[in-house]
Amino acid sequence: MHYYFAPMEGVTGAVYRRTHHEYFPGIDKYFMPFITPTTTERFTPRQKRDIAPEVNAGVPAVPQLLTKSAADCIWSANALTDMGYAEVNLNLGCPSGTVTAKGKGAGFLADPDALDRFLDAVFSSTRARISIKTRLGMHDPAEFARLLEIYNRYPVAELTIHPRVRQDFYKGTVREADFAAALPRCRMPVCYNGDIVTEQDAQAVAARYLNLPAVMIGRALIGDPSLVTRLCGGPRADRDRLQAFHDALYARYCEAFGDARIAILRMKEIWFYHLNLFENSEKHGKRLKKSTDLRAYEDAAAAVFRDLAVREDIVPGWFHPA
Ligand SMILES: Cc1cc2nc3c(=O)[nH]c(=O)nc-3n(C[C@H](O)[C@H](O)[C@H](O)COP(=O)(O)O)c2cc1C
Repeated sequence: MHYYFAPMEGVTGAVYRRTHHEYFPGIDKYFMPFITPTTTERFTPRQKRDIAPEVNAGVPAVPQLLTKSAADCIWSANALTDMGYAEVNLNLGCPSGTVTAKGKGAGFLADPDALDRFLDAVFSSTRARISIKTRLGMHDPAEFARLLEIYNRYPVAELTIHPRVRQDFYKGTVREADFAAALPRCRMPVCYNGDIVTEQDAQAVAARYLNLPAVMIGRALIGDPSLVTRLCGGPRADRDRLQAFHDALYARYCEAFGDARIAILRMKEIWFYHLNLFENSEKHGKRLKKSTDLRAYEDAAAAVFRDLAVREDIVPGWFHPA
């Protein structure tokens, strides 16, 4: 089984990927949060900060594109290939209203004919090895039959399926039965993504789909960064290891942003998931949330590692909201 780190905009940027890879081995591919190529045929300075080969050195990183323009997809996928990336991923799953309103991400799934024309143009003109990350549809999982018939006609390097429709966003249980029904009809290697939280969840997916080559994990890996290391036979991270990772990440954010306040905001995104790994974390969580300056943040974070016990398995507060 291969293990992939899901792309998470605002969370799994270059600094995070590099630091995670250094502290917690086992991830086969880190998918980068999406970038939207422009018509100028140049990456913006901000995009370059995440995709430049030097900031991803030694990390098996896969860039991801979000676009419905074949021309923009072709120039950017070729440029990424020329930069040395062996694979470029297309985002056909983003559920955000601002994205779908423009017919991009999961919004593209609502127009299969346009998607077919787009893929035809892209696959006939790009030098890149293209993989796809998709949902089952926009409104109804029944849409996937037509979508898969389209995907199957192109040399898609790998198809990651998040078995939800756009209207589900990231809530409710995944549509497992629809994934199971689609899997035997996929002509390309498939990666399963969605709601894997514990080692047992990952093992259950592997046992259910015996020839499945890969799973992708997002939120649970932010929460429990040694999850895949353990699945690969490595050790569970203790408090010291978690603190060393935290301190390295925070120091690198401070250096990269040149502004502790931005670094603290980034760290708070991570704590939203990571705090679930600690017992009785409510009070400490409030203190972290309130901290705005460097001193208050550092004291609040140190208190978590000093005072709280690490749970065996994360209790995910984020996808089964009360
Ligand atoms: C904050 C956030 C940002 C995300 N950003 C992206 C993104 O840039 N590209 C993408 O394909 N998916 C993105 N996703 C979706 C995740 O990659 C993943 O499909 C989703 O979290 C389900 O997997 P999980 O249950 O293992 O977390 C994002 C999800 C979240 C919660």
